[in-house]
Amino acid sequence: MKAVRIYNYGHSDVLKYEDAPVPEIGPDEVLVKVHACGVNPVDWKIREGFMARMVNYTMPLILGWDVSGVVEKTGPLVRRFKSGDDVFCRPATSRNGAYAEYVAVRSFELAHAPKSIPLYQAAGFPLASQAAWMALFEVGGLKQDQSVLIHGGSGGVGSFAIQLAKIARAGRIVTTTSGRNSAMVKSLGADEVIDYTKEDFSEKLHDLDLVFDTLGGETQAKSFNVLRKGGTLVSSVGADEKAASAHGVLGKSFMLDSNGARLQEIAELIDLGKLNVVIEKEFPLSEAKAAQDLSQSGHVNGKIILKVI
Ligand SMILES: NC(=O)c1ccc[n+]([C@@H]2O[C@H](COP(=O)([O-])OP(=O)(O)OC[C@H]3O[C@@H](n4cnc5c(N)ncnc54)[C@H](OP(=O)(O)O)[C@@H]3O)[C@@H](O)[C@H]2O)c1
Repeated sequence: MKAVRIYNYGHSDVLKYEDAPVPEIGPDEVLVKVHACGVNPVDWKIREGFMARMVNYTMPLILGWDVSGVVEKTGPLVRRFKSGDDVFCRPATSRNGAYAEYVAVRSFELAHAPKSIPLYQAAGFPLASQAAWMALFEVGGLKQDQSVLIHGGSGGVGSFAIQLAKIARAGRIVTTTSGRNSAMVKSLGADEVIDYTKEDFSEKLHDLDLVFDTLGGETQAKSFNVLRKGGTLVSSVGADEKAASAHGVLGKSFMLDSNGARLQEIAELIDLGKLNVVIEKEFPLSEAKAAQDLSQSGHVNGKIILKVI
């Protein structure tokens, strides 16, 4: 099969589009014929060696941890899926990903794909929508009528977080992005938009219940000031718990797990027309380098998709 692999960490030049063996599956695994693969910041972070101290990857490594496709084959213990099923998934980032014609995934990571959108578009959801879900609901405990600030509302994770906060009936949804994306984030459900290139959000906001930080650094440091006492900051890039506690708020981090049951709930929201994906650009698999360079620019609107079929 064709795949995009790396043999060592580094710049996007290390990505090789080449022939690779079709993966073998274990008893509780599923072989998925990949239709499309979502591109996420974790792809280029792993390519650069960001996870090297946590995971001992076997090289060559296939990147890409967001996939939609069709079940090709199932292991003998798999009951919920059969060959020919349309599926989507965030495969575990500790093993080979889906920049390839086939990927092997564990059955508990997999969900049946939404029926109301083209299968390739489903590849834009699993990682970013589950990260937004986990941050807002499982870690942040967002409740109806609460106020939430979502940083980077035009990005992959932020664009889902706005929609999920709306579904949860948050009382006030504020987001930061640059002015050119204002209409887009409002159409997703944001009540207020702060243009980070022109305004300082920390001078405009106070006493919020929850901040979802997707950026870290100065953005996170200033965010502690806009929370009410006892409020919560959840960060997808790691929260400074000491600084949070000095401000009388909670600082929480999370690492997304692969969870097919959660993803199945997300598929239902997609089929109800409540959750949509914004796709900035599609590339063929052979152009994974250009796709990663675009992701690494830090200014993508929504998702980038690699089309394999
Ligand atoms: N912990 C986990 O398990 C987990 C899971 C998923 C993601 N993550 C991490 O979360 C981060 C966000 O992921 P993502 O996929 O959403 O990234 P992304 O799609 O690359 O985010 C890009 C967006 O950020 C906006 N942005 C850039 N600088 C900004 C600023 N100073 N203020 C407000 N918005 C700004 C950009 O808007 P403009 O174009 O207008 O500048 C762009 O739309 C990444 O670091 C990713 O690795 C972690």
